[in-house]
Amino acid sequence: MIKKIIGKAVTTFAGREDFEIPQHDSPLFAGIDWERLPRHVAVIMDGNGRWGKEQGVMRTAGHSAGVKTLKNILKTAIGLNLDALTVYAFSTENWKRPETEVNFLMNLFYDSLKRELQELHEDNVQIRFVGRLDKLPASLQAQMRDAEELMKNNTGVKFNVAINYGGQDELVRVMQKIAADVQAGKVAPEAIDEAMIEQQLDTVGNLPVDLVIRTSGDMRLSNFLLWQSAYAELYFTDVNWPEFSPECFVEAMKDFASRDRRFGGLNDNKK
Ligand code: FPP
Repeated sequence: MIKKIIGKAVTTFAGREDFEIPQHDSPLFAGIDWERLPRHVAVIMDGNGRWGKEQGVMRTAGHSAGVKTLKNILKTAIGLNLDALTVYAFSTENWKRPETEVNFLMNLFYDSLKRELQELHEDNVQIRFVGRLDKLPASLQAQMRDAEELMKNNTGVKFNVAINYGGQDELVRVMQKIAADVQAGKVAPEAIDEAMIEQQLDTVGNLPVDLVIRTSGDMRLSNFLLWQSAYAELYFTDVNWPEFSPECFVEAMKDFASRDRRFGGLNDNKK
């Protein structure tokens, strides 16, 4: 019984409705090293289903709770002045789930986007959808296009939502595009380099990923941002996504600040 009450309290805290963008001097940010923040954070929002099961509700209730978590994490990212936040909402492999769950998720994306559109815009967010979007329901595609259009001149955090996204699928699409350019005589094979590939990625214009966060205990990338995360730090937590609070996110920032990033080179003091 006690566990249940604690569980509920934590849930309310993580997904609280009244959470505003925290100011620089917010107690939430106490102890942050502002010079050592990641610029681009990618998040694998895992554990919605498990959370639902633990609460004795349906898996889909976990996805709904996960939207509130996402909203608060985005607001925290804005408060931290991060350059980009990329989240994994639906993978190319997630179609294997029961049709009812897939439909629920598609409706959830549509409804959430519709509901949050104005607030995202007011928060100066630049939204972008990444993945093989043409396979999504037409109504969702239209909603995504409207959202991108509305926010195209915004200058705040780049908020990339990966839907029907797979890192391998993205690289296949890049290769097909470049191969076509080679075939058309527009590109010489030896001219293909990292920069050319980056120009064709769904995330073009974003900085490389500095930090990948995965909730809910599993320690793998699951086909997320394979190219972009080549030198990313990885952060895993047992907390399920619906309970991943702004405080948990700040904890990940502090952990990142303690990492020794060498990018294949040596530390200054070891040279
Ligand atoms: C993984 O948890 C989560 C998903 C497949 C869906 C994530 C989607 C959201 C959090 C909603 C985002 C909303 C918008 C508008 C972008 P899981 O179901 O695999 O959990 P499990 O591993 O416990 O089964």
